[in-house]
Amino acid sequence: MNSRLHPSSPPAAQGHVRASPDRAALLVVDDLAKHYVTAQGPFTVLDGIHLTVQPGEIVCLLGASGCGKSSLLSTIAGLQPADRGCIYLHGQRIQAPDPRIGLIFQEAALLPWLTVQHNVALGLQLSHMRRLSRPELRSRIDRALLSVGLEKFHRAYPHQLSGGMAQRAAIARTIARDPHLLLMDEPFGALDAITRLEMQQLLLGIIAQRHCTALLVTHDLDEALLLGDRILLMSRHPGRIHREWAITAPQPRMRHTEDLMALRAEIFTALSEVMAKTTS
Ligand SMILES: Nc1ncnc2c1ncn2[C@@H]1O[C@H](COP(=O)(O)OP(=O)(O)O)[C@@H](O)[C@H]1O
Ligand SMILES: [Mg+2]
Repeated sequence: MNSRLHPSSPPAAQGHVRASPDRAALLVVDDLAKHYVTAQGPFTVLDGIHLTVQPGEIVCLLGASGCGKSSLLSTIAGLQPADRGCIYLHGQRIQAPDPRIGLIFQEAALLPWLTVQHNVALGLQLSHMRRLSRPELRSRIDRALLSVGLEKFHRAYPHQLSGGMAQRAAIARTIARDPHLLLMDEPFGALDAITRLEMQQLLLGIIAQRHCTALLVTHDLDEALLLGDRILLMSRHPGRIHREWAITAPQPRMRHTEDLMALRAEIFTALSEVMAKTTS
């Protein structure tokens, strides 16, 4: 294996934060559990989730469909309550949506009757956001549209945009709010392979330029290998962090695909194992 690739130790040895959160960390998830009640009865979707993300990191959360990736992201985002455990942002416990956290989903969910610039503006005028002056609003919108390459499309309506452009507009809507942490749930899952590659590079540029931190959910191992500083593999029933790997190969990773082959095979094998264990 290439010396730049360091598979990390198994979960028991990873030094999870318990009593006192790591105050230097951007995000700490400490012993999180989440239950759902369904027609078939209650079930535990997440149990004993420990996760620490340092400032500037891109952490990819990989796992089979149904293992609880989206549930974990929406719990961290404060969209649903945890049933046990704590979530800390910059060392402060959070229990509700926080303006320092930006969300990006697979669907752009733009309002069709608003132009691109007005869709971006809407994200800046939510009730829990600080009220911005008109020039500040204008400059935030312009900067965000420039970051995603849509500066010439500010007056376009969503139906005039391709899938990739719509997702760019959705990213602009989120980054205009200057989030510290980006939570992304399969953000490029609906795009064709070439557009997805373009969007992945765009995202890396935005994260570097804005000094953001990102937790990105994907079921695409290659996406995780291209983007992540770390890859966390989730198992299911209940959802847990099963293993993690640090990836130290430099960006752009497209130039290091040969170096990543051994790690890809290792993660693929681990993914097959967790799926075999939990497939009924
Ligand atoms: N609000 C909910 N109520 C009940 N069950 C849910 C809810 N959300 C998700 N689930 C179930 O929890 C499991 C994990 O779902 P999800 O978090 O969407 O997984 P993933 O994103 O990894 O595919 C699935 O079995 C799903 O059907
Ligand atoms: Mg999901």
